[in-house]
Amino acid sequence: MAQNTLRIGLLIASDRSAQGVRPDLTGPALEECIQSQGWILIRRDVQPDDAAILRETLTAWADRGDLDVILTSGGTGFSPRDVTPEATRAVIQREAPGLAEAMRQASQAVTPHAMLSRAVAGIRDRVLIVNLPGSPKAAVENLQIILPVLPHAVELLHEEPDAEKHH
Ligand code: MTE
Repeated sequence: MAQNTLRIGLLIASDRSAQGVRPDLTGPALEECIQSQGWILIRRDVQPDDAAILRETLTAWADRGDLDVILTSGGTGFSPRDVTPEATRAVIQREAPGLAEAMRQASQAVTPHAMLSRAVAGIRDRVLIVNLPGSPKAAVENLQIILPVLPHAVELLHEEPDAEKHH
């Protein structure tokens, strides 16, 4: 059986949204996308572009045991405050580069700026963590690229006995 209901955590990294200066439009856009799959958004938060805070949140969320996938959004570009990939790399134990490669590759058909995404994907224990870009449009476009493979990814992380049937 493929894993069909995924438990998702959504962590928005944005100084301005965390300060309440700019409304977070990306969270609701991603939430709609998640719910359209029949997946459950267990936790959602907006935090500043601070590597220590992001690291601590990712660790706490991953280690609670109630999430299959943590999606982050924002902080993957080149500006000095873009530190989400560094925070992610500090908490994952295994990288999953294919997800980030696929997002960058497919996004280049949309904009050459996709080359500026430093997004990382990886695994902490049984939780998959994936960085998405920050704008609502880019975040949704990138999530749509990887959506189809997430159930099987989670299934493999849970070592379902018949996982190989879905390869
Ligand atoms: N990917 C898609 N599909 N569509 C986009 O509009 N924007 C890019 C890129 N990936 C974009 C995209 C831009 S402009 C940047 S700077 C990087 O993602 C990183 O975005 P972030 O700094 O908001 O995380």
